[in-house]
Amino acid sequence: MTVPPITATAPAKLILCGEHAVVYGCPAIALPLADLRATATVTPQVAGHGCRIIAPDIGAAWLLTARPNDALTIVVQVTLHAAGVPASPPPDIAITVTSEIPQAAGMGSGAAVATAVVRAVAAWCGWHPDAASIAALVYQSEQQLHGTPSGIDNTVVAYEQPIWFERRDSTPLVEPLTLAVPLRFLVGDTGGRSATYRPVGAVRSGWQRDPATYAARFAAVADIVRAARAALLVGDVVRLGGLLNDNQRVLHALGVSSPELDRLTLAAVQAGAHGAKLSGGGWGGVMLALVSDDAQAMQVAAALRAAGAPHVWDTTTGTAATGAI
Ligand code: PMV
Repeated sequence: MTVPPITATAPAKLILCGEHAVVYGCPAIALPLADLRATATVTPQVAGHGCRIIAPDIGAAWLLTARPNDALTIVVQVTLHAAGVPASPPPDIAITVTSEIPQAAGMGSGAAVATAVVRAVAAWCGWHPDAASIAALVYQSEQQLHGTPSGIDNTVVAYEQPIWFERRDSTPLVEPLTLAVPLRFLVGDTGGRSATYRPVGAVRSGWQRDPATYAARFAAVADIVRAARAALLVGDVVRLGGLLNDNQRVLHALGVSSPELDRLTLAAVQAGAHGAKLSGGGWGGVMLALVSDDAQAMQVAAALRAAGAPHVWDTTTGTAATGAI
């Protein structure tokens, strides 16, 4: 009997507010982007094939045994282990991964690919883990990629819901949030790319050099995130927009913005967005701008393009599709 391939997917994400400070235990809020996704397909192979990961987007393919320290190798191995399937000898499967999510752009591409792999490999093993278990498995590949990840990316991607997140020593605090109104964002890509560990490392150096100043900045972010939660829960987008601007100012002070991010956020606000900030690690990647209606969205999208954004996505949390425009 031929066993059919098993496919699973996972979404991109945006950090609404609280990035970087979240590494130091402050709260943050993150949102899934349901229609930008990574996909993993497990295809059974003949005996002796071994377990091979195939990533056509980056023109790479490797046997697990050939790249033991690769983040995806690790996530396959921990998933097999958790499912009770021996990783040695490896199962005879091909795991093909593809993604619509730009890499190193602050949209959770690595976490989404790893989550799709966990879901597909677990399903192939006959196991259907809950979101918290998936997030914990993916965290192990995030550690390989980022060193000291807070865990917010893998958590929002695995939960596929807006979340309130606080890093804790053992298990993080995760609260799914119900938004009072859908939130519409224009997401502008600077076109620049920076691996997350670099700005995270720069913030750590700054904090080690001047702990009092950095602690005050982290506390300011925590206050903004708490106020943003209150605004989200009553659907006050004007207040939320102002808080996003406040968060951007602190991110700038932390040194993780960039001239391109400053230019796009300013352009968005000048074009009428309620607020705008970088999203994710910074030093490139994407920014988000909060809008409410079509006219505002069109103006902000045009302003982002005029300010140099090579890609602009129009996305509404929870309801409508994310479309490149
Ligand atoms: O992976 P990115 O670029 O979305 O950044 C994740 C958010 C940070 O707070 C900068 C890092 C972390 O581990 O939380």
